[in-house]
Amino acid sequence: MPAAEFVVVANRLPVDRVVSGDGEESWRRSPGGLVAALEPVMHDVDGAWAGWAGQPDLDLAPFEIDGIRLIPVTLSSTDVEEYYEGFANDTIWPLYHDVIAPPQYHREWWDAYVRVNRRFAEAAAKAVSDGGTVWVHDYQLQLVPQLLRELRPDLTIGYFHHIPFPAHGLYAQLPWRDQVLQGLLGADVIGFQRAQDATYFLTAVRRRLKHEIKASTVSVPVPGGGTRPVVARSFPISIDTRPYRELAARPDIQARAAEIREGLGNPKRILLGVDRLDYTKGIRHRIKAFGELLDQGRLSVEDCTFVQVASPSRERVDAYVHLRDEIELAVARINGNHDTMDHTAIRYLHQGHPREEMVALYLAADVMLVTALRDGMNLVAKEYVATRADNRGVLVLSEFTGAADELRQAVRVNPHDIEGLKDAIMTAVEMPAAEQGRRMRALRKRVLENDVTAWSSAFLTALGEVRAARG
Ligand code: G6P
Repeated sequence: MPAAEFVVVANRLPVDRVVSGDGEESWRRSPGGLVAALEPVMHDVDGAWAGWAGQPDLDLAPFEIDGIRLIPVTLSSTDVEEYYEGFANDTIWPLYHDVIAPPQYHREWWDAYVRVNRRFAEAAAKAVSDGGTVWVHDYQLQLVPQLLRELRPDLTIGYFHHIPFPAHGLYAQLPWRDQVLQGLLGADVIGFQRAQDATYFLTAVRRRLKHEIKASTVSVPVPGGGTRPVVARSFPISIDTRPYRELAARPDIQARAAEIREGLGNPKRILLGVDRLDYTKGIRHRIKAFGELLDQGRLSVEDCTFVQVASPSRERVDAYVHLRDEIELAVARINGNHDTMDHTAIRYLHQGHPREEMVALYLAADVMLVTALRDGMNLVAKEYVATRADNRGVLVLSEFTGAADELRQAVRVNPHDIEGLKDAIMTAVEMPAAEQGRRMRALRKRVLENDVTAWSSAFLTALGEVRAARG
């Protein structure tokens, strides 16, 4: 494959390999916000994407899908256990999400993280042309910027962090805290979701590495003397609104939304949650609040059904196994207490769904519940808003999401405060149409104007400025 001028490096390729029962191979869109955000960017450039195909021990040659050149990086089953399930998702993920689950610190996992980050850096170094640009993504690959710079000093390197960066008091727990900061500082521009994330990062750099910092620029000492500027600031990510708007306007999708309502017994209000099944998402909190509203008779199953789509995620990590048990027990209890032959309290779907079905669900939902305890951005909130062309519907949004900085007209909640969450749900359920319209119009303006193209061009412009300054 010819060298590319622009290479994205992310833990996952935008597609996962799936093999059906009869051995047939196919490719399915990868889960999560990162792929959703970057896919449209890739269609606009002559670039390549290096990442993992989602299965262990798979040695694949580079290939092309939908005009995107893909460079698979192989992970052995030990790598999957120690780097992906271990260090990335049982150390960094919980630590960076405010230790909602206890992070596990294991030296073998760290060794695997270094080893696999080196493999990604080597794949990118091989794929990119002279003086080209590499854009590294997310917490799985925090060492890649520095490793890549050592291999290819000619490159311009960007890094975007899709999840929160923790306050220094928490970050300081990490036994490898200095190495991770140095890894990130290999980039020219380090992007975060919220201004607060960038501030926490810069505080960690100041306190741990003692580098000089002016505004959002760190002066990183280079071997042989002098310094190199590294910009660290926020670039709030968004979605490509077009497919959501187009699907929402399609008569068959609208008919499907009506069918979903019908299938649920035509309740007056449908509440919706859409998440990967993750402890950061506050799914338990919203189920608890909804259950108490039913217990107290403030809501009834005739009036109100809550649909929770929880797509399976990281199913071999203990914290996720426990979470699933807890959620499924809570759902079964509430349904057992409140369901009738015609109505259900909570329709729980532990399944991923195609985008068409998701848009039909967004259209069917009167209230969207985004109650994350901590979330880098939360693109589901933006997807819901993008589909609501009729300016109806209410977004209940946790203040601990990146999206809360922008989506100010949502009904804001602290999901830890169950009474407050219950009141917010009631406010949303009872909100008059005029107020729904006033809020939704403002939300839509924000989401439609600041879409994923605005995000990527802001980031790539900042990267271009650093490159130009370097000459
Ligand atoms: C979040 C992360 C992504 C990740 C996605 C899905 O959105 O920021 O980096 O890819 O979750 O998680 P998974 O572990 O399945 O890749």
